[in-house]
Amino acid sequence: MKIKDKTFTPLLPAEEIAAKVNTLARQINKDYKGTKPLFIAILNGSFIFAADLLKEIDLECEVSFVKLSSYSEMTSSGTVKELIGINENIFNRDVIIIEDIVDTGNTMRVVLDEFRDRGVKSVEIVSLLVKPEALVNSIDIKYVGFEIPNKFVVGYGLDYDGFGRNTKAIYQIKA
Ligand code: IMP
Repeated sequence: MKIKDKTFTPLLPAEEIAAKVNTLARQINKDYKGTKPLFIAILNGSFIFAADLLKEIDLECEVSFVKLSSYSEMTSSGTVKELIGINENIFNRDVIIIEDIVDTGNTMRVVLDEFRDRGVKSVEIVSLLVKPEALVNSIDIKYVGFEIPNKFVVGYGLDYDGFGRNTKAIYQIKA
């Protein structure tokens, strides 16, 4: 598959993703039984994963979406992004963050810090993909779909320069 100037080859077929999404949902249903969690999906990349996962969740739950602002300022520690779109009162809530991919973990660091500052009761992450070799923050990801090599991927919500989100499978950049 070609997107702009790059070529991508298949990494995870649709059936494998669907089976994994099912497994993750079953685990969450079991772990959160009797609670009323608030799922917060991180846009844009997680929109397909979030939709598929939530269809398999049988808990009484709320669903919301947040985004990291494109506004950024350079500090000694790099780029700082701000979380926008939290409308719910997340104080004392059991929050489950839905993410497409954890790469360096910088995004999750920002999100986790913000949620903890706001006094959530608990917060866990479900991420379809994790690149363990790229992780620079120590982030505890309770629900991991697939651990993948440190190569750029697209599809199933993930983009390359805005393109390639609308596929059922996930593709990896050709070296
Ligand atoms: P992190 O902050 O480095 O963990 O990166 C997380 C965000 O970067 C994800 O939510 C994605 O939007 C984006 N990202 C990281 N790796 C990839 C990739 O391989 N393909 C597409 N987007 C990616």
